[in-house]
Amino acid sequence: MTERTLVLVKPDGVQRKLVGEVVSRIERKGLDIVALDLRTVDRELATQHYAEHDGKPFFEELISFITSGPVLAAVVSGPRAIAAWRQVAGGTDPVEKATPGSIRGDLALETGSNLVHGSDSPESADREIKLWFPNL
Ligand code: TYD
Ligand code: MG
Repeated sequence: MTERTLVLVKPDGVQRKLVGEVVSRIERKGLDIVALDLRTVDRELATQHYAEHDGKPFFEELISFITSGPVLAAVVSGPRAIAAWRQVAGGTDPVEKATPGSIRGDLALETGSNLVHGSDSPESADREIKLWFPNL
């Protein structure tokens, strides 16, 4: 069953020049990149993207972080792409949850700057892809 998922390389990943590393891991996993765009995120897109976290203690920090510099946004597809990408990315906390071999497990230290995003369900993927790539 082919799925699509939204992948982001967050501002820390772009700043650390890890775009190539992330794209390479998408490709090595066997997933297809169907759209790719480097852009700066405004507050409106950021708050819509992270709407589920509105009101949580880390929300303001999350919004200022994701709007702090360019991000690479991608639509990635393949069999079980949503779970496959979250496996490649690793758990949210790069130390406590992400395992070695994952992007976060290998390359990140802090939950607030964990390099990448991936949609967490088919419903989230639909919503996020419409938000980031309305013409797709
Ligand atoms: P979440 O959707 O729970 O994680 P994921 O990115 O793995 O889907 O949270 C979104 C982002 O919010 C997460 O990548 C980093 C940040 N965050 C914090 O800064 N502190 C926290 O306690 C949590 C849960 C998330
Ligand atoms: Mg999430």
